[in-house]
Amino acid sequence: MSAAICGTGSYAPDYIMDNNRIAELVETNDDWIKERTGIRKRHIAKTETTTFMASEAAKRALENAGAEPEEIELIIVATLSSELIVPCSACEVQREIGAKNAACFDINAACSGFVIAYNMADAFFAAGQYSTALIVAAESLSKLTDWTDRNTCILFGDGAGAAVLKNTSDRHYNSVTHSDGGKGWALTCKNRLDLEEGRFSREHYIDMNGQEIFKFAVRRVPELIREVLQKNKVEQEEIAWYVMHQANCRILEAVARHLGEPAMKFPMNLQHYGNTSSASIPLLLDEMNRKGMLKKGEKILMAGFGAGLTWSGNIVEWSI
Ligand code: UT7
Repeated sequence: MSAAICGTGSYAPDYIMDNNRIAELVETNDDWIKERTGIRKRHIAKTETTTFMASEAAKRALENAGAEPEEIELIIVATLSSELIVPCSACEVQREIGAKNAACFDINAACSGFVIAYNMADAFFAAGQYSTALIVAAESLSKLTDWTDRNTCILFGDGAGAAVLKNTSDRHYNSVTHSDGGKGWALTCKNRLDLEEGRFSREHYIDMNGQEIFKFAVRRVPELIREVLQKNKVEQEEIAWYVMHQANCRILEAVARHLGEPAMKFPMNLQHYGNTSSASIPLLLDEMNRKGMLKKGEKILMAGFGAGLTWSGNIVEWSI
């Protein structure tokens, strides 16, 4: 048995910022951003908090699954941008949705967060500890973005996605996760806790070596996908969809090329949301689910990659 996705939900903030608006803040333009990243616009949380977005996505996932909050035994929230250090965002979601029987905690695995949250819930299921879980990923990256840095401010957006999991899938798939702390310097954001009075600096915003992250993703993600397939004795042809972290259209196109797969098996919605870190995969999954793109029994390979560095993949059989 393994974790089946029984319902999905997502939330994107009301305020939308297009590339032209960003070109008013830094020296860039719509054509450059579209050509180099695929991004056209992003949602920015002006009034919403990370935990609000997480709770809204969670409510929509419960509704989609036809599940009651009391059924949920475990809530994992993946985030790197909660406004709260304590209580954890998962406890906030628990309170907001009334999931009073759930055990709750957060993880920070950056853009791999949603995939790793799924892997953790699945491992709890395999150990016989829980059989119903809610996994949520929510980010307010705009709060950590230096809006004078054109290297990063063109990329990021805010939002949340969630999925209800039940231990009902017939076949168990093994996940793969890798990390390389040695390359952590390539994407950093310092906690504001050590801030001396009046000494706020660029280190407290997301700082990124874009080319290093780009090279890492294009090299490691095809390796990761092959490892996931091999470990589960699944052929590439059996995968209906590669639902990947939405970082940059050129990264996803390069991964598809490396694997010899058609680009249409790598759906994208980054044009509307930008890179929302951990939230990007469940935002896409929810969109595909609601559009009716996913058919029962289809195998979906999910892969996240980003800061840490971390990269993680798994296979989910669609069961709705
Ligand atoms: O979730 C994981 C998080 N991060 C990522 O996924 C990021 C991965 N990396 C990337 O997506 C790309 O590296 C970027 C989109 C960030 C940058 O694209 P690039 O093709 O690697 O550009 P570059 O840094 O090599 O810069 C190329 C040129 C430079 O000009 P010159 O030296 O060729 O004259 C830059 O100064 O483009 C210039 N440039 C820009 N021009 C207009 C850099 N940023 C901008 C900009 N607008 N925003």
